[in-house]
Amino acid sequence: MGIKIETSRLTLRPWGEDDIEQLTLGLNDLEVAKWLAFVPHPYSTSHARDWVRRCRELSNAGTRPGAYEFALELRSGRRVIGGVSLNRIDRQAGTAGGGIWIADGYQGRGYGREAFEAKIRFAFGELGLTKLVNGYFDGNENSWAMQRKLGYRRVGEVASRCMADGRQTIEHVTELRRSDWQGREDQASNRP
Ligand SMILES: CC(C)(COP(=O)(O)OP(=O)(O)OC[C@H]1O[C@@H](n2cnc3c(N)ncnc32)[C@H](O)[C@@H]1OP(=O)(O)O)[C@@H](O)C(=O)NCCC(=O)NCCS
Repeated sequence: MGIKIETSRLTLRPWGEDDIEQLTLGLNDLEVAKWLAFVPHPYSTSHARDWVRRCRELSNAGTRPGAYEFALELRSGRRVIGGVSLNRIDRQAGTAGGGIWIADGYQGRGYGREAFEAKIRFAFGELGLTKLVNGYFDGNENSWAMQRKLGYRRVGEVASRCMADGRQTIEHVTELRRSDWQGREDQASNRP
């Protein structure tokens, strides 16, 4: 059950019991968790088990789930190196939110961008959504660089709190409209 998406180096697929160890390793890292809103620290096996259980319920939720949570598995070697989500799907409004994390040791190698791009294509192409809303905590220049390269714009700021270290922070709200994305795709395909 559940959607699977292949990119050149990654498989985006549902989380399973076998991922608990790598999920715990990846998220029990304050350098990753400090940029995420809802990941506790320390992150234990039981947190990972609860997460996988919730994700399994999601992928069994029928044909129109309110969220998709994908594990990011390297096609070479089957290692899970992160996660990407498309959540708060509002089909009437045509919008969704989402998030992403890549484990230490795998960052800065284009995996985040590859996974986010696949999620965007799925959201606009398969689900027919028209706007994706995202964000990043103040100071997370890597996330902003990745989003900006994909065409996201900054549209505002909200006060937020990081669960992992408890700090109050600013979240820059970002969004990507399908028309902007389509324009970029068209430009790329017209390039000689
Ligand atoms: C933010 C994050 C998802 C980006 O994923 P990534 O795989 O590291 O990023 P990518 O390698 O795809 O980089 C995309 C672009 O952003 C920039 N960038 C991102 N991370 C970088 C890094 N660690 N070092 C240098 N440049 C980086 C680069 O300019 C890159 O552009 P390029 O493809 O033209 O070189 C990842 O670093 C991460 O998980 N960080 C911790 C958790 C987090 O911040 N999640 C997002 C919350 S909003």
